[in-house]
Amino acid sequence: MEPARYLRTPLTERLGLRHPILSAPMAGVAGGALAAAVSRAGGLGIIGGGYGDRTWLERELGAAGEVPIGIGFITWALARRPELLDLALDHGPVAIFLSFGDCRPFARKVRHSSSLLILQVQTLEQARAAIDEGADIVVAQGTEAGGHGGRRATLPLVPAVVDLAGAVPVVAAGGIADGRGLAAALVLGAAGVLCGTAFFASREALSHPAAKQAAVRATGDATLRSRVFDIARGLDWPAEWDLRTLRNRFAERWAAAPDSLAAAGEEVLRAYAEAVAAGDVGTATVIVGEAVDLVRRQEPAAAIVERLVSEAAARLGDAPSLLAPTSRRDLSVGV
Ligand SMILES: Cc1cc2nc3c(=O)[nH]c(=O)nc-3n(C[C@H](O)[C@H](O)[C@H](O)COP(=O)(O)O)c2cc1C
Repeated sequence: MEPARYLRTPLTERLGLRHPILSAPMAGVAGGALAAAVSRAGGLGIIGGGYGDRTWLERELGAAGEVPIGIGFITWALARRPELLDLALDHGPVAIFLSFGDCRPFARKVRHSSSLLILQVQTLEQARAAIDEGADIVVAQGTEAGGHGGRRATLPLVPAVVDLAGAVPVVAAGGIADGRGLAAALVLGAAGVLCGTAFFASREALSHPAAKQAAVRATGDATLRSRVFDIARGLDWPAEWDLRTLRNRFAERWAAAPDSLAAAGEEVLRAYAEAVAAGDVGTATVIVGEAVDLVRRQEPAAAIVERLVSEAAARLGDAPSLLAPTSRRDLSVGV
């Protein structure tokens, strides 16, 4: 089913998209099938190259086939396996997406390729640096986001980044999972949205089936940011970014003193790894953001894209009705 209306923005123009929607490069979750499904639906799907597992990346690029997609990396992890950027560029992606770390060692190579450079930032300082490095598109990620992120909230961060980005399109990320969020982002001056949580339980996502069920049942009240799961997974993330996940038993047990988890020893970490393998979401991490409130069913990614667009178009079309007549406004003054 085609959405009734289209939203045309500098992002759709720049990337040649029907819809101003990017799906996030979720490590281990956003494989070739999800990215291709989002791109076929009119957005741009981005494969989550994550921490740089070559075998995984080759398989998922194969799964995307000839469909135009983007490829994302966690920048500090890419610095440890820089050859993966060549593998990615050889695929001829629409864009390379980098987040979390110093993009300078990679930006030049991407700029000299046929792929566009998308940089995700969490602060104004990072946004300035991204523009200086020649980003084609800047993603402003608020702390509501699922996964790793910073401390600033989407609502004030996005317009501030828009104000400094000039002609560079800005994409809003963090807490956007329905058409109301997309419409709000466009009103803030963003040229589109990047959604992760919205696609976490999609049919094509590689999330564990139990994690998809947990996401569908959860509300945004039940998420937290912590270092707990990075410690449990043995990932030495820079202190600048922590991880938003569902608040489960394991997070409750260790969030107040994550360093004691590091000291707890092999047995706890082995038990954690076993819980992950078994899909025990009381212990294993379920990486979603506050917008999990709006994830209510497991469905094809294309249905999510279409609903985002049709709801946003309807909301924007209805916007003039929010302007109440002066007399009614006067009545409410002083109440
Ligand atoms: C399961 C999951 C995994 C993620 N993994 C990555 C990642 O590997 N690299 C990255 O740049 N961002 C990652 N993110 C963050 C996204 O890029 C994006 O900023 C975020 O999903 C947007 O907020 P939302 O979850 O509210 O839509 C991840 C997000 C989720 C939900």
